[in-house]
Amino acid sequence: MEKILVVDDSMTYRGIISSILEDYNLVMAEDGSKAIEKLNKYDDIDIMILDLKMPVMDGFQVLSEVKKERKFKDIPVLILTNVDEIESEIRGLEAGAVDYIRKPINADSLQKRIEVHRDLIRARKEIIKKNEELEERVKYRTKQLELSRKITIDALTGLLEIRDVESSNHTRRTQCIMKVLGEKLLNDSPYSKSLNKLKVEEIYKTCPLHDIGKVGVLDSILLKPGKLTDYEYEEMKKHVKYGVDALIKNVPTEEDLPLVGTALNIIAHHHEKFDGTGYPKGLKGTDISIEGRMMGIVDVYDALSSKRVYKNAFPHEKSMEIIISERGKHFDPIIVDAFIKIQDDVIKIIKEYGADDE
Ligand SMILES: [Fe+2]
Repeated sequence: MEKILVVDDSMTYRGIISSILEDYNLVMAEDGSKAIEKLNKYDDIDIMILDLKMPVMDGFQVLSEVKKERKFKDIPVLILTNVDEIESEIRGLEAGAVDYIRKPINADSLQKRIEVHRDLIRARKEIIKKNEELEERVKYRTKQLELSRKITIDALTGLLEIRDVESSNHTRRTQCIMKVLGEKLLNDSPYSKSLNKLKVEEIYKTCPLHDIGKVGVLDSILLKPGKLTDYEYEEMKKHVKYGVDALIKNVPTEEDLPLVGTALNIIAHHHEKFDGTGYPKGLKGTDISIEGRMMGIVDVYDALSSKRVYKNAFPHEKSMEIIISERGKHFDPIIVDAFIKIQDDVIKIIKEYGADDE
């Protein structure tokens, strides 16, 4: 049963109310300050019946204290007034009381009014409980979804690692650099308005998929130690199309899942160049998605600063020189500028995950 705090300096009235509301769990207080004490003592008061005229601390002061305190402000307060105290009634209701009971008390009226508020409290508690359950369910589903996304991306990139196309260090390095670059562009660049926190997260979470289409390229080309012939290079370029096709065939539309749109852009655009000389479509400038332009720089930087069968790893300065020389040509100048600003982090990331690709 609901717990009701009855605050009245008159012992007679406290007795009358007790006998009318005998089915409830009642707590008594004989003045305002005792009422506050009881509220603090019991943290499960459901309803308060409050006399307005009392010594020590009157009902208005109690009301004002209750409404100020976060943990008490939602307790419905019913004020006790005399028939000739209409003004007090109005003042009490304005101060936050939800209802009034007039003295002399009518037993049926008091009981009915308490029942109304009891039902409201129960309904509110039920809604809070349902909301909490719903929140828990949403949290659980979100976690599951996150996990399945991660497993899918890890499994797909794992295929590239199995075929020796990429090392897991390359994946981690490019992912970490994309994260730092995305955050820099979001917080300190002319592109801050084209990005948001969620988009940056989508970009670095899906960027390991950029070369997923390489699983469709022949080993003799993919793993060739020397320079590719023109024919082989054309075959190699198809990895973009294979990646896009694989994703489009197997996943819902971009509208359904923005993450997929981001992944698609990264795959489709990471070999496009800012001046329009890239592949597969020869897109130019901002026709290339921001994630594609970002991936373009990070991918090239990582290839330059890693060891390959045909070349040693370039030192950071040399790699940066090449990147900067392509500012406005291969690469978006704004993203190059942001990349220059995050150099210290890039060096740290390369150190942590090693530039050891073969
Ligand atoms: Fe690629």
